[in-house]
Amino acid sequence: MNIQRIKIAATALLSALLLLAGCGGGGGTPAPTQPPTVAAPTGVTATGGTNQVTLAWNPINEADSYTIYWSSTLPLTKANGTRIEGAVSPYLHSVTVSQTYYYFVTAVKNGVESEPSAQASTVSAHNGEALYATNCSGCHGPLAAPTFHDRTFAGIKAAIAANRGGMGVLSSLTDTEIANIVLVLPNHH
Ligand code: HEC
Repeated sequence: MNIQRIKIAATALLSALLLLAGCGGGGGTPAPTQPPTVAAPTGVTATGGTNQVTLAWNPINEADSYTIYWSSTLPLTKANGTRIEGAVSPYLHSVTVSQTYYYFVTAVKNGVESEPSAQASTVSAHNGEALYATNCSGCHGPLAAPTFHDRTFAGIKAAIAANRGGMGVLSSLTDTEIANIVLVLPNHH
């Protein structure tokens, strides 16, 4: 056997071994590399209710937790959105003002946050008209022309606190309820 033949034999053996190794175990496909973070949540929906928005999304098995970002203006980014950490779907977001709210959700795994989900938005409703009818119209007339002058949150709070005209009975109205009454009052003139 000369050197040349040994070389050829060795090369053939090496090729056979490499072929075997390549086919060994996993059927030839290399193991997929793990993504650095968890995937962004999908199926994010926002549904407006009275003084609240309900957010929901599809749970992700690998996620440790979720973070909601929201804003009432666009663009919504991780940098400028208001964060709500540790949220669970469905999440009830309490809001006071009837307007459009924009959201996206991220998943968190090992302290690393996913990319933002697709954005969802909705308009929340409020019950200002109903609150006025129940609590104010009996003494102050219809919503179109209230008989009081101070249409501000502070003015109404002060009138209730001072029990003006017996308004002290309204002390159980929450700040949100008063804010929603202010929303529907005709503007100053
Ligand atoms: C039980 C009757 C009664 C109810 C109910 C009532 N008010 Fe009054 N309110 C009065 C009277 C009477 C005055 C004027 C009394 C005074 O000036 O001393 C007054 C005064 C006020 C004032 C201050 C005066 C002004 O003109 O700015 C505001 C503001 C006001 N009311 C808002 C409201 C709102 C809003 C509601 C409902 C959440 C309400 N009130 C419910 C009887 C009532």
